[in-house]
Amino acid sequence: MSGRLQGKVALVIGAARGIGEGIAERFVEEGARVVIADTEVDAGVATAKRLGGLFVETDIARNDHAERAVRKAVDDLGGLDILIQNAGIYPWTLIENISPEEWDSVLAVNLKGTFLAARAALVHMKPKRSGRMVFTSSITGPRVTSPGHGHYSASKAGINGFIKAAALEFANYGITVNGIEPGNILTSGMKMHRSAAFIRSMEEAVPLGRLGTPRDIANVALFLASDEAAYITGTTIIVDGGQTLPEGKDFRITPD
Ligand SMILES: NC(=O)c1ccc[n+]([C@@H]2O[C@H](COP(=O)([O-])OP(=O)(O)OC[C@H]3O[C@@H](n4cnc5c(N)ncnc54)[C@H](O)[C@@H]3O)[C@@H](O)[C@H]2O)c1
Repeated sequence: MSGRLQGKVALVIGAARGIGEGIAERFVEEGARVVIADTEVDAGVATAKRLGGLFVETDIARNDHAERAVRKAVDDLGGLDILIQNAGIYPWTLIENISPEEWDSVLAVNLKGTFLAARAALVHMKPKRSGRMVFTSSITGPRVTSPGHGHYSASKAGINGFIKAAALEFANYGITVNGIEPGNILTSGMKMHRSAAFIRSMEEAVPLGRLGTPRDIANVALFLASDEAAYITGTTIIVDGGQTLPEGKDFRITPD
């Protein structure tokens, strides 16, 4: 712990568990005060309590909830310095079976939710002429994909486009906008939505030899949210243990 976020207020959306919880924990270790925003009330309240933060029930697909989450930080903690939009859903469905409703629900949380969060936070960051926005994208969509990820891939590729547009517009106000593209990170969501066989095959595809942890992502979110990243905007950082590097599946160096 070195106080890299001392005195900062961070709103972390999708932080009751998984990667978001890891980000909120890492931020608190570095001195930030945090608001945990999530649809899951019991888990969210428990996480907020554990970290000494506040909880606000939030469905980030809803504009009134996005605005309420930002207000919670501003009214109860005195401002908003850092916005993390990490909430995301990843149902596994082949394109031929994705209903228009399921398509809309994935895009509503992952992509529209990111826009709504940014728009609500901007209102409070713009007058201060400073702020940090960090969005959780994915390697899935922007770099690679696999069957069953049609809507998810579209949503995450959309986030990368939005990051560029928001970074350009918000640069005028001293606000940076960046993203993280996680590879395969072992979270409760991943265990819930993906088969053991899928997880094993992903593990085998990672040159560094293991799946990622929420802390692997949290350390990069910390960097992007800190003063050290002051001159970085409109980009994403891949955090995937090298998973997107190999040209083919036989990438291991084997003895002759
Ligand atoms: N786990 C991975 O391998 C992986 C890889 C790449 C990207 N990601 C992305 O990272 C983010 C977190 O993934 P995770 O594995 O920690 O998932 P998770 O399911 O473990 O946690 C997601 C959290 O977001 C919350 N959430 C879901 N919908 C919400 C909504 N509408 N409004 C507010 N909160 C909501 C959930 O309640 C949960 O607390 C997602 O955006 C996901 O797409 C994950």
